[in-house]
Amino acid sequence: MGNKKARILVVGSINMDLVMNLERSPDAGETVLGYEYSYIPGGKGANQAVAAARINGDVTFCGHVGDDSNGNILLNDLNDNGVDISYIKKDQGFQTGLAVIPVEANGQNRIMVFPGANHSITKEDVDQALERDYDAVMLQLEIPIEIVFYTIERAHAKEIPVVLDAGPSMKLDLSRLKGVYIISPNETEAQALTGVLVDGDKTALEASKILAKETGAQYVIIKMGDKGAFLYEGGNYKMFPAYKVRAVDTTAAGDSFTAAVAVKMAEHGHVEKAIEYANAVGAICVSRKGAQPSLPTSQEVAKFMLEKGISN
Ligand code: RIB
Repeated sequence: MGNKKARILVVGSINMDLVMNLERSPDAGETVLGYEYSYIPGGKGANQAVAAARINGDVTFCGHVGDDSNGNILLNDLNDNGVDISYIKKDQGFQTGLAVIPVEANGQNRIMVFPGANHSITKEDVDQALERDYDAVMLQLEIPIEIVFYTIERAHAKEIPVVLDAGPSMKLDLSRLKGVYIISPNETEAQALTGVLVDGDKTALEASKILAKETGAQYVIIKMGDKGAFLYEGGNYKMFPAYKVRAVDTTAAGDSFTAAVAVKMAEHGHVEKAIEYANAVGAICVSRKGAQPSLPTSQEVAKFMLEKGISN
């Protein structure tokens, strides 16, 4: 694709994240005091869209927000980040998606999501957005699953590569994912999809084989947190170790990783280079607070890679 921008359609969720920083999350029936809280733009779909736009993707979003103040804030935020919001609808009678996220001192998070308007996306919305041409379609699992299946089917029929970030974790009929080009779950998501407890190379390989066979995906890329990313392609596999950084908040690290893979694959199609770049994006993301504020620009990624001595 040379220097042309990768044209990416994201069909996905948009949430306001209510984030509280605390030493540790409470046990059942326990109260724990936090240090601070903030409202931060998030949602797996919107995070991927912003991540892709910050590294020079030409990004269009298909999704829904509620007709409320959070919806307005999040639409403006996407627009300010250069994402085309013309296929985002405002729903009367639904609230904008909300995520409640306690972030512990070690950067670990837990995420509770109220989907709200994200669950009113329709097949017609997808058809309208797919009237344009794209180099890739990015999906996650925070919208109705029938819309995910439908988008895969429609994009595949138009010969547009589909990149599926398989979060949040759920069991699925894998045969309904036929047509995906890249499937990228984290360890928990891979376990939910395959029944294999993924905790190292051997089990990642086992899960990858199932995912590749059942979905027909050309690439399976399992995100394994601070261990790195595991690539499986046509019977071959390779682990790409994560770059070492101090984890402040892991929110959106997986989203940004997959978005970076999608953009780089659309730009040049070299999967190993795409994963190395995506590992850098994910590493920068975990070293900063919040979902979208933590997503790096292409200049920041270039600086990080230079400092780490990675040529890409
Ligand atoms: O992947 C992180 C995201 O998951 C958060 O931004 C939250 O909104 C949930 O969708």
